[in-house]
Amino acid sequence: MTTSVLSDLKIRCSKAIAAAFGEEYAKYDPAVAPSKDAKFGDYQCNAALGLTKKLKQKPQDVAAQIIANLHADGSINEIFEAPTIAGAGFINLKLKLSYLEMQLAKMQKSDRLAIATVDQPDRIIVDFSSPNIAKEMHVGHLRSTIIGDSIARILEFQGHEVLRLNHVGDWGTQFGMLITYLREVYPDALTKADAIAIGDLVELYRKAKKRFDEDEAFKETSRAAVVELQAGESSAKQAWLLLCEQSRREFQKIYDVLNIQVQERGESFYNAYLADVVTDLRETGLLQEDQGALCVFLEGFSNKDGQPLPLIIQKTDGGYNYATTDLAALRYRIREDRATRIIYVTDIGQSGHFTQVFQVARRANWIPETVQTTHVPFGLVMGDDGKKFKTRSGDTVSLKSLLEEAIARARADIETRNPEASEEFKQDVAEAVGLGAVKYADLSQNRTSNYIFSFDKMLALQGNTAPYMLYAYVRVKGIGRKGEIDFASLNVDAVRLTTEPEIILAKHLLQFAEAIDAVAEELFPNRLCQYLFELSQKFNQFFEQCPVLQAEERVSRLSLCDITAKTLKLGLNLLGIRVLERM
Ligand code: ARG
Repeated sequence: MTTSVLSDLKIRCSKAIAAAFGEEYAKYDPAVAPSKDAKFGDYQCNAALGLTKKLKQKPQDVAAQIIANLHADGSINEIFEAPTIAGAGFINLKLKLSYLEMQLAKMQKSDRLAIATVDQPDRIIVDFSSPNIAKEMHVGHLRSTIIGDSIARILEFQGHEVLRLNHVGDWGTQFGMLITYLREVYPDALTKADAIAIGDLVELYRKAKKRFDEDEAFKETSRAAVVELQAGESSAKQAWLLLCEQSRREFQKIYDVLNIQVQERGESFYNAYLADVVTDLRETGLLQEDQGALCVFLEGFSNKDGQPLPLIIQKTDGGYNYATTDLAALRYRIREDRATRIIYVTDIGQSGHFTQVFQVARRANWIPETVQTTHVPFGLVMGDDGKKFKTRSGDTVSLKSLLEEAIARARADIETRNPEASEEFKQDVAEAVGLGAVKYADLSQNRTSNYIFSFDKMLALQGNTAPYMLYAYVRVKGIGRKGEIDFASLNVDAVRLTTEPEIILAKHLLQFAEAIDAVAEELFPNRLCQYLFELSQKFNQFFEQCPVLQAEERVSRLSLCDITAKTLKLGLNLLGIRVLERM
């Protein structure tokens, strides 16, 4: 098992720099990157130019010393041809053919394509999906679910210990009004399970909210109901449990369809820790009273009059906010869960919220230097028309119907292509293609942009889509079937690479580990989609130009087919997409 060539080279260059110029340079950025142009080799180390000023030496001389020290570890000669220096001290490194050939043979024999797990696993929390009880899960939550799941899969693949947390909105004022309203109009709903459907619950929530906004007495009672609930009063608590249970089951249906694992740990979980947040912030001197509310004044945020903006920790009536719960959650995740990396996947509209929460937590000294907190924001889902995503009648789109439609459309397609196939086969293909299309369409965009939801585009056979990728996989597997090949018993010590398209494909295959590292670090799954898309293109070029089954190099070329198929399968799996053997 190996790590990626890129990460290995970074370590080698760092060591060489430290060995050449002293330990004080051990942390110096070795500026190692894949080359943009093949004429500069496959990788470059561009550290020399930056070092010249510090060392007062010519960049070419600096580069020569780095190279001399790179050779201190002889194993580099197995990986790269002799490094060359270009221009202002740029070190170019070209992979050795023999290394490529050997690595490919290792990849072919391994289900994880010979990619090693990390030496020191981190404990990572991915906070994603996180819909709100009594409200319907909407497309924003769908994005969070798909992106969060993919990030979690990639980190798990790397060997990290990942805690997937569903921070559902199951606490707070919405329950006060809902319980009060239901007590009035539909008391049965509060004592009997399933007395109302979730769709009705959403409607009831709307009505309750309207009452809350219009009726002062109702407002009072609702507030009292929240206090009752938070104090654990039994009838309010029971009503709350029923409401949560009902929503939970609806959410679970979506997770089942999408094959998503996520552990529910909602806002209510942190109720017991809210008071500690207040105490801690008071002790660190951050807490201030402002018109009866307890708050922390934020650095770098001000209101229109230029006054520092407060983050309200506890309201005048004693209630707590969304931010307070997130502070309690962050504190808990660091202290109790011992997480060293905490990732939050929500819409971009919450960026301010997370910046504020992280800031207060940092100033309260809750975040040790070894812990990284990251908000992973994403853009809005828009309709075909470029406007906010709505149904024709103007309602918000229900996720269930959206997924059903994707499957139905994929089903209609297979009906026309393959009417003779069995019912079971058609349904299986329709589900894999329909759901894969929804996921891939979301993941293949740069997540920070708004994304246009279009069934036509996501189900198209051409372009960077799930059907295209799934077909690419089926086609590669088809080659094996045609030649009646048992890939598992192809036993090669080295894959011989004799032509340009083979070498191009081989180098790209070897970069899979780098694509995974990049997503794990930067948390942009579209990087992996792009990698897989390019892989299928490079494979096509190879397949057009190099005969496989009839060739003298048959075994080698079949290995390339097999590694490509394995990479597509694993790559799509890391995106939460299931491949099909035939379609
Ligand atoms: N429930 C929130 C919403 O629907 C998302 C929660 C995200 N996670 C968090 N720790 N704040 O917008």
